[in-house]
Amino acid sequence: MKKWALIFLLSFSCIYIISCNGDDDMDDDDMMMTNDTTYTQTPYEFDIPEGFPQPVIPTDNPVTQEGVQLGRMLFYDPILSGDSTMSCATCHRQENAFATNNIVEFGIDGIAGTRNSMPLFNLAYGLNPLFTWDGARNTLEEQATEPIANPIELHQSLEEAVARLEAHEDYPLLFRKAFNADPSEEYIAKAMSQFMRTMVSANSKYDKAITNGSGVFFDEQEIKGRDLFFLETGMNGEVECIHCHGGRLFTEFTFKNNGLDDVTDISQFTDPGLGGVTGLDQDYGLFKVPSLRNIALTAPYMHDGRFATLEEVIDHYSEGIHYSPTISTELGSVHTTGENINLTPEQKADILKFLHTLTDTTFINDPQFSNPFE
Ligand code: HEC
Ligand code: HEC
Repeated sequence: MKKWALIFLLSFSCIYIISCNGDDDMDDDDMMMTNDTTYTQTPYEFDIPEGFPQPVIPTDNPVTQEGVQLGRMLFYDPILSGDSTMSCATCHRQENAFATNNIVEFGIDGIAGTRNSMPLFNLAYGLNPLFTWDGARNTLEEQATEPIANPIELHQSLEEAVARLEAHEDYPLLFRKAFNADPSEEYIAKAMSQFMRTMVSANSKYDKAITNGSGVFFDEQEIKGRDLFFLETGMNGEVECIHCHGGRLFTEFTFKNNGLDDVTDISQFTDPGLGGVTGLDQDYGLFKVPSLRNIALTAPYMHDGRFATLEEVIDHYSEGIHYSPTISTELGSVHTTGENINLTPEQKADILKFLHTLTDTTFINDPQFSNPFE
């Protein structure tokens, strides 16, 4: 009889605990359940700028307030680097639209990388965009944890990074609140990707000037620069910037060879770019077409930082294009007749002035994206 009574009592108390879970007036016994508390996440509402496309959010990583908050902390926290000296923000600085002004970057061991840091904004856009200069990463999530283990970047194994987060006084609860899970590689990647997807830059002079009623207008030189940038002028060849850097995001999310290297055989490219990832001949020497938003903030330029200034970049497109087997057909007359477009000094100055209208000072000062530890 006693045994039956005990079983009855036990099962009753189980039901009681389950039904109590989540109630406000938890007694001491129920407090032991806190580890299993299921947290509800608050969806992050994207404020889609006028004229922008819809952001593309993967269904298995919806953006939530809690995820963004955690991702922002991880992005700025040197806990993810082997010697606790560097974070993502070391090479992705808000004042530089989340790039830097270095030619290439050095990791915690002082070893130089071979590529220029990339700015981070408007990363939620583009259908199936690839990430990094050579498109080696298929998703933002894939790229978000790669720098942690990379020996020339943060140089800390993912296991070690996870262990340090687990032992931290705040992070375990923040992961629970964001994902109802313990720290893991998957959720580090998801949280940082959520944060990066909220980094929208859409408030440059250009945006204001094309948005009705803003009261901000282009000056005469900016208008001439804009027309050169967007129109196929037909004069003295065509500028054709728009073919690769078109749309509100100033990139078509494609990979192109914009004539940087003078090579006769694809094996001669110093950096094979997309070809190194796909192995296809036609992809050698192709690099991700970067957005030109905030371009005045991210010198030097190109995947290897070879041009120190925007003037040098414009000179390149005007008279410095090199032939190579994979050169893009979008380079207009240079591609078809081998003739440079030779812009006049005035046209160059106009394009430069226009490029400066793409700087978004609201974005680089937005407290939502700043270091949460300062
Ligand atoms: C040592 C400097 C360095 C550190 C630290 C670093 N990055 Fe980067 N990041 C780069 C460089 C350089 C590239 C371009 C890489 C390439 O093309 O191979 C890049 C590219 C990226 C891209 C691709 C952007 C695009 O438009 O394709 C993302 C996203 C990114 N980093 C996020 C992060 C995150 C998140 C962290 C922290 C976990 C981080 N980075 C840490 C230097 C760094
Ligand atoms: C054929 C496509 C194409 C055309 C046309 C084109 N670009 Fe580019 N642009 C690229 C690619 C690809 C890169 C990156 C190349 C690299 O780093 O290897 C780039 C890079 C740049 C950069 C440096 C970006 C950075 O973050 O380092 C600037 C600035 C730029 N282009 C401006 C222009 C201007 C201005 C025009 C018109 C005169 C123009 N582009 C025409 C494809 C193009």
